[in-house]
Amino acid sequence: MESTRSRLTQRLAEAGQSHLLQFWDELTPEQQAEMTSDLEAMDFQEINRFFRSAMEVSGSSKQEKMDARMEPVPREVLGSVTRDRDCLKDWEEEGLRCISQSRVAVLLLAGGQGTRLGVSYPKGMYDVGLPSHKTLFQIQAERILRLQQLAEQRHGAKCFIPWYIMTSGRTMESTKEFFLRHSYFGLGKDNVIFFQQGMLPAMDYNGKIILESKAKLAMAPDGNGGLYRALGTQGIVEDMEQRGIGFIHVYCVDNILVKVADPAFVGFCVQKGGDCGAKVVEKTNPTEAVGVVCKVNGYYQVVEYSEISLATAEERSADGRLMFNAGNVANHFFTLPFLKDIVQTFEPQLQHHVAQKKIPYVDIQGRLIKPDKPNGIKMEKFVFDIFQFSKTFVVYEVLREDEFSPLKNADSQDGKDTPTTTKHALMSLHHRWVLNAGGHFIDENGTRVPAIPRDGSAGSGTADVNQNLKDGTDLPIKCEISPLVSYGGEGLEGLVRGQEFRPTLVIDKSGAHELVKNGV
Ligand code: UD1
Repeated sequence: MESTRSRLTQRLAEAGQSHLLQFWDELTPEQQAEMTSDLEAMDFQEINRFFRSAMEVSGSSKQEKMDARMEPVPREVLGSVTRDRDCLKDWEEEGLRCISQSRVAVLLLAGGQGTRLGVSYPKGMYDVGLPSHKTLFQIQAERILRLQQLAEQRHGAKCFIPWYIMTSGRTMESTKEFFLRHSYFGLGKDNVIFFQQGMLPAMDYNGKIILESKAKLAMAPDGNGGLYRALGTQGIVEDMEQRGIGFIHVYCVDNILVKVADPAFVGFCVQKGGDCGAKVVEKTNPTEAVGVVCKVNGYYQVVEYSEISLATAEERSADGRLMFNAGNVANHFFTLPFLKDIVQTFEPQLQHHVAQKKIPYVDIQGRLIKPDKPNGIKMEKFVFDIFQFSKTFVVYEVLREDEFSPLKNADSQDGKDTPTTTKHALMSLHHRWVLNAGGHFIDENGTRVPAIPRDGSAGSGTADVNQNLKDGTDLPIKCEISPLVSYGGEGLEGLVRGQEFRPTLVIDKSGAHELVKNGV
């Protein structure tokens, strides 16, 4: 024990991090043992290196120069669900064919801490208050199940879409326990694979690791780009190879409308020969918290909302649209060879981004301080930072109201991206599905509710659902369709054509039901 301690003391001194042991003598033996094992597992020289290069890159003069080097995505790499309608069927067919051969996997990034939403459990376990009270995890699981079924029906072969779920030290146990408790939502246990990303300490501006208590370092997950290191250290790439996976759809946990393993997106990327692809929606508001896909120095990249200057975000092209309008919805496509190259070769070249944060800490007297302005940084890699290594990068533009409504914040009066806005976005989409399949809604007096032309085909384009719903005058019809019945609006005619429904309408595997209770 003594020799371990002195080795540790020496390593800390060499790395300029000796302050971490300043309260050592006040700790209980259990705390000492735990702290020793935490510290033993850390590579302080590497952490110091990360700090130095992250701080250097985040310097403001470099930032300004980057703005000058940004170019929008060129038309030739862009596919669009509206402009390329004629190709959609073909792309979807291609994607379903790949799925039917069990060559498509999905990978969920679920290691975030959900700080803005303010819950202490993983975001995927959140119930936004749909009539069914399904959580985000359940909705995603059921979309996978339905897609497997659609691919099987089309091609007559049993197939699986393995679901890789990246968690972090903060979310692993509760996520696994949740899936176990819900019997993996009907998916085979072997086809749901959990793995864990790394953590990094928070540092002050002088590169000193912050203590969150006398016995504990302030630690945070190393960003969703921690994915690539984790894929290597946990043997996930090998697992993909063994299963014969060729294509991977990576997505974030919080988008209630996410088309998991979207066959049209997969098919588009495959047909274009893309090794890497991104799904985008049109960004219409310069200050919206989405990154933009663009080129910097001739290489594809996402410039994150926290890193773009307002002047650049506000630039408009001749047609009045934002110049940088390819809004990143955090849905990416990779071929396995591309992912393997990243994991085996390029990962160490990825730079950490710096987020300035208010980080609670213990001061030299051992008092817990909650700062009211940023006092340090967290370092994160971003999942899209590998776009620069792509040889054939493709971008796929979809309609916001069909595919993007993320849950970021807690409900508040005029909040954006909240449980209420996501719930409304899903019900509004399902409402349109019913109308498109020939069903109708009636109000409490039996009068038909006029159809709202919010469908992309009716020309509303990329209207911001959040914006539409903000003032409460445009509440959606209460309608929810189980993903087990329909993945993307298909298969509903037999259930709704020519019928009138009084909300709340729920369509699940046992058919279409009007719920008497309207308290959604
Ligand atoms: C993310 C995108 C942003 C995009 C927006 C769309 C990144 C870095 N940014 O921003 O460009 O416009 O979504 O909604 O992708 N996560 C981890 N480990 C971590 C941190 C996060 O797995 O260490 C996961 C989260 O669980 C979540 C996802 O990454 O599923 C996105 O994280 P979040 O912090 O919510 O990203 P945004 O800032 O919203």
